[in-house]
Amino acid sequence: MNRLSTRRDETIRLLDQTPTDLFKGSRHGDPNGILRLLGQRSAQPRQEHVRQARHAYASHLADELAGKPLDRQLLDRFADQMRGAGPVCELGCGPGHVARYVHERGADVSGVDLSPAMVEEARRLHAGMTFSEGDMLDLDEVDDGSLAGVVSFYSIVHLPADSLPTAFREMRRVLRPGGVALVAFHVGDEIVRPGELWGIPVTLDWVFFRTADVVRSLVASDFRVGEVIERAPYEGVEHPSRRAYCSPVLARNHVLRRLDHFFARA
Ligand SMILES: C[S@@+](CC[C@H](N)C(=O)[O-])C[C@H]1O[C@@H](n2cnc3c(N)ncnc32)[C@H](O)[C@@H]1O
Repeated sequence: MNRLSTRRDETIRLLDQTPTDLFKGSRHGDPNGILRLLGQRSAQPRQEHVRQARHAYASHLADELAGKPLDRQLLDRFADQMRGAGPVCELGCGPGHVARYVHERGADVSGVDLSPAMVEEARRLHAGMTFSEGDMLDLDEVDDGSLAGVVSFYSIVHLPADSLPTAFREMRRVLRPGGVALVAFHVGDEIVRPGELWGIPVTLDWVFFRTADVVRSLVASDFRVGEVIERAPYEGVEHPSRRAYCSPVLARNHVLRRLDHFFARA
């Protein structure tokens, strides 16, 4: 087994021991509510607790975007660009509420997630939409240049920093020239290890990135970055970290890029 697949299997194992993801402390995610829910069912096996927490949390998360005006604004603009443009994919879709938001605004969007449990949850919550298991580092089911757009909302959070170029190269591969990506992430240079979420031990890492490093990696992967926006956390709504958005991120045409290099050297 190569290094990438070993790391992927380990990440799936860690993700599936996690009741959900980073939204601890969210107004909608009310961890205490979920703990109470878990407490009421203490006779049930732990796996069942995890499953129920994931369901409960995903339901709370369903309207999380209501408290995030900038996220909505950027997703609205992305959806406007994508309406009628062709297939769009949310990479690392979790329980699917972001994909759903874009879908409701008329884009042809599906979702991919590494965690089978998250995919199951997304399918349960958003009947009629397509969600599948897949690894954003190796989207082997997705053809080159087949997508008009990609949303990556906080999906790089579980990637080791040295995997960022692989993730962005893969994103570039599946996008057609001129395709649009919207990338959001937590700003910082720390790796957060909560240790437990809602009383359930987890060993998964949450990786924050410096904005300049993300932009550099996007550019090196043949993207043109239009805007970079940073904002403070929405208090009481989400985890209290700074957020950054690269939008729009345009997949460059390889031929034009080579011409650029040629003329730059001439
Ligand atoms: C913080 S959640 C974000 C969920 C959703 N995009 C949102 O904004 O609410 C990160 C998601 O990325 C998924 N993920 C982690 N590594 C991945 C990978 N290599 N490929 C695809 N998905 C991955 C996790 O399973 C998790 O659902």
